[in-house]
Formats: sequence, structure tokens, C-alpha cells
Amino acid sequence: MNYKTLGQFIIEKQADFPFAKGELSRLLRDICIAAKIVNREVNKAGLVEILGETGETNVQGEKVKKLDVFANEQFIAALKAGGEVCAIASEENDEIIPVDSEISKSARYVVAMDPLDGSSNIDVNVSVGTIFSIYRRTSLSGPGTLEDFLQRGTEQVAAGYIIYGSSCMLVYTTGKGVNGFTLDPSIGEFCLSHPNMQTPKAGKVYSINEGNYLHFPDGVKKYIKYCQEEDKATERPYSSRYIGSGVADIHRNLITGGIYIYPTTTKSPKGKLRLLYECNPLAFIIEQAGGKATTGGKRIMELPIQELHQRTPLFLGSSNMVDMAMEFMTRFSIEKVS
Ligand code: AHG
Ligand code: MN
Ligand code: MN
Repeated sequence: MNYKTLGQFIIEKQADFPFAKGELSRLLRDICIAAKIVNREVNKAGLVEILGETGETNVQGEKVKKLDVFANEQFIAALKAGGEVCAIASEENDEIIPVDSEISKSARYVVAMDPLDGSSNIDVNVSVGTIFSIYRRTSLSGPGTLEDFLQRGTEQVAAGYIIYGSSCMLVYTTGKGVNGFTLDPSIGEFCLSHPNMQTPKAGKVYSINEGNYLHFPDGVKKYIKYCQEEDKATERPYSSRYIGSGVADIHRNLITGGIYIYPTTTKSPKGKLRLLYECNPLAFIIEQAGGKATTGGKRIMELPIQELHQRTPLFLGSSNMVDMAMEFMTRFSIEKVS
């Protein structure tokens, strides 16, 4: 057996991590516990539906919760029990969740998360994910505060996602490259399967919800047309691929090369995706894999953040493709580039 588990990997690489000894392994251990529970529920989501257990109560007499609420509770519970965080921020909670317990007294980190990304795909057996971002607290002691989360993406000490797909994978970075681990269900461990992930500089896939085409900035409309043109040298037309689970779209593009765009639209003038727990962690990962993440004008990770649920447009993926899309934005939408 030559499996390398996540735990073994972290111990081997300890010197590389911007964490004191043991903290990262404990944080990731907590995240993985919740991820395995969510994965188990995702795996039986279809069965539960077939057996008609999606009513008010299940066989144990417990209320059946929507998976995104369930995932939120699992990650919060695991992080609280682990004792390494002094506050948690989640897409599912309007305010931060301060953690004030005996074991969290010396906690030095805060975690921001999207516990279930791709909610519209839960009921239809399509991949969903979890996104997380870890910061060092800026407050000095006691439970964490809102300010602990209002740090630029460049301050992240680690970020990652879990994809609940045909297999369950954890992909994360601490700023020393990106590594991917696949859950081996037979031993219940995440094992190193994708060491040192690098995204191709040039891809051939573009991922955007073209249903919103009429509402896109001109730069995006023109870039889409560019992707669709015939050109041998650049191997266009590119392929359009859009799952609607950001984690799954970005995971595929990370491996094969491609660009993911969620621009501003006339309906969502600030964009749809959230800076803190969607864009910044995904930006950290793609940059560490050699790609880029911008608003169409500026680097995502340098954006100032004023509020927990702040939105931003996102252009993320292979560096050549992001550069080209930004060129279109500059040429055709300069006044709209934020
Ligand atoms: P969430 O399920 O956490 O709300 O996030 C969904 C996000 C992202 O994952 C996905 O790419 C995008 O929203 C899909 O939005 P549209 O349905 O508007 O394309
Ligand atoms: Mn999301
Ligand atoms: Mn979500």
C-alpha cells in the first residue's frame, strides 16, 4: 500500500506551513470530519427521495433538513468542537458566529465558508461542493469579531474546497502550491491523489451562464463571441461547459484549463458571488495553481472588503484566457470594470 493520507502529508510538509505545529492538521481534520458526513448525506440524497423521506420527519423522527442547512450545521459543529477557531462566517448566517468556549480560548484562526456550493444541483444528482478560507485573527483575545473577517484575500493562510462528485475530493493550498486528496471510502481517509496541481496556461473551455447574455457587459458579450469564433492557431471555437456549481466548474477548469466567469449583470450590478467565502478562496487556489482571478479589471485577492456578504464579479482560470477576457473588458466595458 502506498497511500499517503492527508494527515501524513501535513506532518511531512509541516515546515512549509504558515501555521504553528499541529494547528493546520487539526483545522483540516475538523473540516474533513464535516465533509465526510456531508458526503455521506449527498451520497444517499437520491435514495432518501425515492423512499419518500423528504417530508417533515425522517424515520428517526428528526426533521429532514435541506442539505445546505445540514452542511452548515455540520461544519459549524466540527469547527467549534475542534477548538482552533474563535469565529466562523458562513453564507448561511447573516452575522458571524463568535466561538466562546473553554477549548477555543487560545484559538488563533477564523474560518469563512460556503458550506454547500451549487445548491440548485442538490436534488438532481449533480456535483456540489464546500468552500473554505482560513485567516489569522486580528483581534487579540476572546471570541472573534467581524473585523477578523474583513481582511483582503492576500491575508488568507489557507483555503480549499471539497467537491462531492463521482468521488469526494479535498483540494487546498497554504500558499505553497495546491494539492488534491481523494476520499477512499473503504478506509475513510483523504489520500493524496493530485500532488502539486497546476492549471494549463491556455485552456479551451469557457464557463458562464449564457442565459444571462443580454444582461452582460459588452466586454463579456464580445469575449463570448471571440470564444465561439473559428481560429486554428488558438484552437477556437472553445467548448462551453457550465454545471452551475462553481466548485465543480472551477475544479474541472483547474484540471483541463479554462475560464469561469460570473460577471456583473444588469440584474446583479455587483455580481452574484461572494468575495469572502467564494471568490477569495477560489482565487487563492487558482493563483497557487498558476492561474488568475480578477473582477475583469482588478485582482480579486487585493480587493478591500467592507462587509461579510460582499459580492464581486469573477473572472477565474487559465492565465491566458483571463488576460484575454480582461482585454475585452478594457476595450468594451472600461467604465464598468470594477
Ligand atoms: P450557492 O449554491 O452557494 O448559492 O452558489 C451558487 C453559485 C455558484 O456555485 C454557481 O456557479 C453559480 O452560483 C450559479 O449561478 P447561476 O444559477 O446564476 O448561473
Ligand atoms: Mn456558492
Ligand atoms: Mn452555498
